[in-house]
Amino acid sequence: MTVTQLEKRIIWISLAFALVLLGLSALAINLFHVGLPTCLTDIKPFQKGELITHSPTHYELHYVARMWKFEPENVTVPAGSIVDIYLSAADVTHGLILLGTDLNLMAVPGVVNYARVKFDKPLVYQLLCHEYCGAGHDRMAAELHVVDMATFSAKPGPPPAAEPTHPGYKLLDANTCLTCHSIDGQPGIGPTLKGIQGRTQKLADGSTVTVDSAFIREKILHPNAKIIAGRFEQEMPKTDLTREEIEEIVEYIQTLK
Ligand code: CUA
Repeated sequence: MTVTQLEKRIIWISLAFALVLLGLSALAINLFHVGLPTCLTDIKPFQKGELITHSPTHYELHYVARMWKFEPENVTVPAGSIVDIYLSAADVTHGLILLGTDLNLMAVPGVVNYARVKFDKPLVYQLLCHEYCGAGHDRMAAELHVVDMATFSAKPGPPPAAEPTHPGYKLLDANTCLTCHSIDGQPGIGPTLKGIQGRTQKLADGSTVTVDSAFIREKILHPNAKIIAGRFEQEMPKTDLTREEIEEIVEYIQTLK
């Protein structure tokens, strides 16, 4: 077989195009953080799988179903506890059946479904996906361990973090500031407040400021006076906090080192 000069040229051009496309994709992923679209609900806090402890016998369990697993995959609760189960889907429609109980929910993209289950005796429950969701559907399973209270209490693990008691925290919470700003370093819609004090921040006009108490105070009072440079599309909404309340918040943020 002979490959003509023209055919060779076409092959090389096609390869070059493919490489350029790959390069642009890599750039989009790494530089602009473009990801696959997600169907996950935008209702917080149901966007991640987690077990939340309300009391030693009352839990809230958020499951996220995705191809092809449930998050969290392994959960342990003590016997005798009531578990409020919330289920959301990250990609396609899945189902959740908890064998040995009445629990049967659909995991629908963009929706949060709910059921309450009381677990009376220690047992390992199997969680299965019962809606065909693609090639790995038959492997989509998880476990929920119900153990007796003594075993559960003896389980090593970090103690649940107590909610901060500082009045500044309560004000941040009451004014929905924590919807956008975390206090533990987690990224959010706005920057985390952990360690923000003393940081050098670039502004949209190209200048830089040090985030000190005066800056935080001013930012709360006049959110749009100094616009932060970067990817935050929206500046903070204005609040009607009093001067005293703002001082409490400023003081609290100082403690978030
Ligand atoms: Cu998920 Cu079937």
